[in-house]
Amino acid sequence: MGTHVVTGSASGMGAASAAVLAEAGHTVIGVDLRDAEVVADLGTVEGRRGAVEEILAISGGTLDGVAAVAGVGPNMADAAAVVSINYFGPVALLEGLRPALARSGSGRAVVIGSNSSTTVPMIDDGLVDLALAGDEETARERARAAQSALPPKVAEHAPSICAYATSKFALARWVRRTAVTPEWARRGLVLNAVAPGAVLTPLMLGSTGQEPDPEAFATPLPLGVFGRPEDIAFWVHQFLKPEARFTTGAVLYVDGGTDAAMRPDAQPTAMTP
Ligand code: NAI
Repeated sequence: MGTHVVTGSASGMGAASAAVLAEAGHTVIGVDLRDAEVVADLGTVEGRRGAVEEILAISGGTLDGVAAVAGVGPNMADAAAVVSINYFGPVALLEGLRPALARSGSGRAVVIGSNSSTTVPMIDDGLVDLALAGDEETARERARAAQSALPPKVAEHAPSICAYATSKFALARWVRRTAVTPEWARRGLVLNAVAPGAVLTPLMLGSTGQEPDPEAFATPLPLGVFGRPEDIAFWVHQFLKPEARFTTGAVLYVDGGTDAAMRPDAQPTAMTP
C-alpha cells in the first residue's frame, strides 16, 4: 500500500478522494487550512514551503501519489488570492514533492482543474503567461486589475471569475507542458489533470446549501445531473494507481458532458502543417 498526499482533504472532492484512498488501504496525508494532518495555507509562499517540509517529514521522503485538489471558486472576493491558491499552490507543491514521488519508482500526480477553463470565455492570455513564467507577484496584480474592470453585474456574483477560469486554464497548460519533461516523464512519474464541471460540494452550493435545478443551470448538463464529490474521487484514485503508467499530460473532463455540449468540435484539433 502506498502513501498519498491529498490537498483540500477537509471538504468536498478532496475529502472524498482521501476517503477512497484510505478505504483502499493507503496512508493518506491530508493538507488543508483545518482538520488535516498538515495544516497549511497553500495560497502563500511560506505556507507551501512549510507544507512540503511537513509532508516530507511525515512520509520519510518517499511518496506514491499526490492529489492537488485544494482550491477556491469564482465567488472569492479577492482575485489575487484565487490565482495564488488555484495555480501557484498546486504547482509549488508538486514541484516541491517531485523528488519524493520519484523515489517511489512509480510516482503519480493529479491536479484538479475545471471545465471553466474552456467554457468561460474570459481567459486572460497575459495572466496565463505570467503564471507559467512563475511570476506570482505580477500575476496577482494583473488579476486584481481584471477584477476591477468587470461589469458590475458579473462582479456582484462572481468577482473572481476571470482569475478563476484563467488560473485553471494555466494549470491545465502547466500539466501538459510539465508532464512530458524528462524530470517527470523519464523518472517514471505521470502527471494528469481532472477538469470537473458542476459538482455538489460546499464550494458550489455556497451559502445557501441548496441544490439548484440541473435543467435550469447556467451551463448545459447533458447527463441531467450534477456531479458528486465521489465522481471526481473515482478518477483521482485511477490516476494515482501504479497501473496508470501510460497516460500523462491528459486533461480529463468529468463534467456530465458540459464541455462536449458547449464545444463539440474543439477536440480533436487537427495539427496545422
Ligand atoms: P470545497 O470548498 O468543498 O473544498 C476545497 C478545500 O480546499 C477546502 O477544504 C478548503 O479549506 C481547501 N482550501 C481552500 N483554500 C486553501 C488554501 N489556501 N490552503 C489549503 N487548503 C485550502 O470545494 P470543492 O468543490 O471540493 O473543490 C475542490 C477543487 O475543485 C477546487 O480546486 C475547485 O476549484 C475545483 N472545482 C470545483 C467545482 C465544483 O463545482 N465544486 C468545479 C470545478 C472545479
